[in-house]
Amino acid sequence: MAQQKTILRALAGETLPTPPIWMMRQAGRYLPEYRATREQAGDFLKLCYNPELAAEVTLQPIRRYGFDAAILFADILLLPQALGADLWFVTGEGPRLSTITTPEELGRLKPVADIHETLNPVYETVKILAQELPKETTLIGFAGAPWTVATYMIAGQGTPDQGPAHALKAANRPLFEGIMHRLTEGTIAYLSKQIEAGAECVKLFDSWAGSLQGDDFTEFSIKPMQRITAALKEKHPGIPVIAFPRGAGTKYAGVHGATGADCVAVDDGVDAVWVADHVQKDGCVQGNLASSHMVTGGQGLVDETRRICDALSGGAHIFNLGHGITPEADPANVQLMIDTVRGG
Ligand code: CP3
Repeated sequence: MAQQKTILRALAGETLPTPPIWMMRQAGRYLPEYRATREQAGDFLKLCYNPELAAEVTLQPIRRYGFDAAILFADILLLPQALGADLWFVTGEGPRLSTITTPEELGRLKPVADIHETLNPVYETVKILAQELPKETTLIGFAGAPWTVATYMIAGQGTPDQGPAHALKAANRPLFEGIMHRLTEGTIAYLSKQIEAGAECVKLFDSWAGSLQGDDFTEFSIKPMQRITAALKEKHPGIPVIAFPRGAGTKYAGVHGATGADCVAVDDGVDAVWVADHVQKDGCVQGNLASSHMVTGGQGLVDETRRICDALSGGAHIFNLGHGITPEADPANVQLMIDTVRGG
């Protein structure tokens, strides 16, 4: 049967006259309606685990802007929490977790089969969204890629250079690989359940792939994403996968083939003209307007949006930012971006 949803058509490799569009962190603090629902939930984690409210914030940017895709409202750090790590968010600073740096701590994590006890509300959110989304809107599920999630589990927080994870990788390779293995298996189980609940595509966020040098990039970003993609496609034939090894630079070339992903999301550290020649030739690409344009707006936003659309008009393209929209963004600039993409 012919596929009607524009995002799924682009993911299948079709070149469309107007690229479909969605935005990383489209449900977020730049929207007053998000802030109100988050207030109602109490805090960010309570919002993630409340299916009705999580579905509500997922739908808010669809109602306001009519994006072509909705991304499940959750967080990449729910998986470590489901594996038994403590997780909390410090307002204005970000996530904190109990750390995993010894074999004993790894041994105390829960088996992958037990993660669903914690994650069931997330699958409930997906089920609600599968019912409530407009028929033309694609529902995207997601997880963090193992390396990125491991950097938070090892350091217990976000880090500018992922130093603690690199140090553990150097000091105790078997332990580091044990953490990566558990996360890879957990991610397969987590995303499988999202797909069973109604996710039509899944995205792997490897936000810190850029700090993996040389062979480490292949070993710890590409290979885990390849393994997850292959396992999901075996269980759920045809499920499209988006891989996002953020900060990969010239190593974005070849990521489609190496991971088996249908689409490679690119950040704004690489130029769209380069992306067309070196990445899009292998399949659909997603990206890559700098999120700062959502703060600054104006003619700069319009010009750069048009330039990216032109550069990537010769192949399959899903328009997005290069990274998540920030809380300081002006909602009117999001509308200007959408109007520019759709109206020329
Ligand atoms: O994109 C979406 O709209 C879907 C929901 C989503 C969130 N986080 C909600 C969120 C997704 C896909 C994520 C992914 C995520 N979470 C990543 C990978 C993408 C990236 O940004 O690089 C990472 C590294 C995390 C971990 C995380 N969650 C951090 C570091 C923070 C704090 C930084 C910040 O922006 O505050 C979060 C919190 C978070 N996750 C918020 C949202 C909307 C803000 C929380 C709030 O409402 O206070």
